[in-house]
Amino acid sequence: MSERPDGRKFDEMRDIEAKVGVIKKANGSAMFRIGKTIAIAGVYGPKEVHPKHMEDPEKAIMKCYYNMYSFSVPERKRPGPDRRSIEIGMVMKNALLPVVNLKEYPRTAIEVFVNIIQADAGTRCAAISAASMALADAGISMKDMVSSVAVGHVNNEVVVDLNKEEEDVEGTTDMPMAYAPRMNKITLLQLDGKISKEKLKKAISLGMKSCKKVYEIQKKALKEKYSNNGE
Ligand code: CDP
Repeated sequence: MSERPDGRKFDEMRDIEAKVGVIKKANGSAMFRIGKTIAIAGVYGPKEVHPKHMEDPEKAIMKCYYNMYSFSVPERKRPGPDRRSIEIGMVMKNALLPVVNLKEYPRTAIEVFVNIIQADAGTRCAAISAASMALADAGISMKDMVSSVAVGHVNNEVVVDLNKEEEDVEGTTDMPMAYAPRMNKITLLQLDGKISKEKLKKAISLGMKSCKKVYEIQKKALKEKYSNNGE
């Protein structure tokens, strides 16, 4: 079996590290690192809605913000929101909404902030995995956790968790996925590139299998915090 640029097997994710409670002043927070990609998430709320006319008497409103730091990539990223970060904020929100019980918090806002401090592809997936852990850490009522990883088609092989080098290969297909394992629900599926029907099926199944592995890591990190009395 031929290998990938960094020596991984086709179904092997990069090394993952996850931790909750990294921002003490936030209601919930998490760090999620996959290879060289690092996401930090902070959750604030449920809190008062500003401006007040935005509040919903039926449920909480959830706002998601994604940001990549200037120093997160070799070529300095211009600070501040751009089209890409606004789109990823929306993608994050859509991936998380199916699991959050917003109806339990009418007339409030839940704010989810994710910052990418180091980027080597797969940042939206790391952002979703970190945000999901931070929401759980904030004690927000949830039906499930969302676990996320990209799959794709590189050099004629279906692979999981593409790094930047693989993303840059000519003809690569990148498919960020998010999955809620207990609900057995795919909450995000994007596709950048071309792929055959047969390989698409293989990629989705590899994505679901890999998200289940991410889920175990997320769960372990949450349990660790609470077995250490919050420290
Ligand atoms: O990060 P993700 O794969 O979810 O999204 P992307 O838009 O496909 O970006 C892929 C990668 O390109 C990022 O993870 C960064 O490593 C890199 N990138 C960059 O170097 N400079 C930017 N302004 C945006 C992305």
